[in-house]
Amino acid sequence: MGAVFSILGIADVKRKGEKMETKVIRMDPAQIDQETMKKAGAILKQGGLVAFPTETVYGLGGNALDEQAAEKIYSAKGRPSDNPLIVHIAEFSDLDRIVQEVPEKAKKLAEAFWPGPLTMIFPKSKEVPYGTTGGMETVAVRMPNHPLALALIRAGGGYVAAPSANTSGRPSPTRASHVEEDLCGKIDMILDGGEVGIGLESTIVDFTEEIPTILRPGYINQSMLEAVIGSVQIDRGLISSDSEVHPKAPGMKYRHYAPKANLTVVEGTPEAVQEEIRRRTREKIEEGFQVGIIATEESLSAYPEGIVKCIGTRKQEESIARHLFGVLREFDDSGVQYIFSEAFDTPQMGQAIMNRLLKAAGQQKIKV
Ligand code: TXA
Ligand code: MG
Repeated sequence: MGAVFSILGIADVKRKGEKMETKVIRMDPAQIDQETMKKAGAILKQGGLVAFPTETVYGLGGNALDEQAAEKIYSAKGRPSDNPLIVHIAEFSDLDRIVQEVPEKAKKLAEAFWPGPLTMIFPKSKEVPYGTTGGMETVAVRMPNHPLALALIRAGGGYVAAPSANTSGRPSPTRASHVEEDLCGKIDMILDGGEVGIGLESTIVDFTEEIPTILRPGYINQSMLEAVIGSVQIDRGLISSDSEVHPKAPGMKYRHYAPKANLTVVEGTPEAVQEEIRRRTREKIEEGFQVGIIATEESLSAYPEGIVKCIGTRKQEESIARHLFGVLREFDDSGVQYIFSEAFDTPQMGQAIMNRLLKAAGQQKIKV
């Protein structure tokens, strides 16, 4: 694997700008190739970009303390530069350098959930450039629970800014092939560590509010947080039906994860949902359109028409979370104009799954 670099030096890769060659390197998370990891770290230290797996989704990493690296991230993703990046660390003690102070409750959450799918927001220190925080006085920090992510952060100097490694607006990547689709030719390296475990981005908790506030729901839900620190609230912008109330996390206001097709979510009892999806599918097919359906193992056989994709099983809600973004991407390649999806108000991750699904649907929902 190290041979890659003797053929094509890192400096050469950087000079190529937009048309750079992106090295895709497969690495077993249980058997880290230290040589290659050192090279990946060197790319970050020199201001380059490396995509890597985390337990949630793949991230697009750059040195968080280097304003120009942040600029490169925005440009590779085509992301609005007012949308701040999450800084990833590998040691709790590294937090001090980038934040002003860490409240007791945040320490407790870190103890309970780091490394893990939790991001916390604090007032930033001077060391964090505004380029990384999208001009904000606060910084979002997370310690991911993935051996390749932790090794890369350490090799890269300890502070890695990483948004999800997708083109802005597309579904977040849960496999290295998704990253390749979106970012090949625009970044220096992709570390391919296989499919991610969770499949939805981290829960974001804002510690700059009186009461710790969830800005983005994820695998770690409100009751899991409250079991550790007591009362936690949910950003009004996330749950309000009033379109004047904006979410506090800038990224939550963009139409995200948007598939090319028109997506509608159908909510209700299983029988009523299936009947409604069958009826609407028939209607669209008669109008001459191609239709996709997002179903589960339990409901697959209820749909005789359309391109039916199985997202997972309701008996294991994790399977639904893990496959959501991948299924949306598959439909982009399938040429359908309409997609109907069942709703997934599952017990633990339902809020996070429905948040992403409804965003992908531009909030189009039918209750039956
Ligand atoms: O699971 C994850 O969090 C993944 C992996 C790669 O770690 N990362 C991720 O990053 O989802 P990104 O950039 O796609 O989403 C970051 C979200 C955006 O909605 C952004 O607006 C919000 O976090 N955010 C970041 N810094 C913030 C801040 N200082 N204040 C409020 N929201 C912030
Ligand atoms: Mg993202």
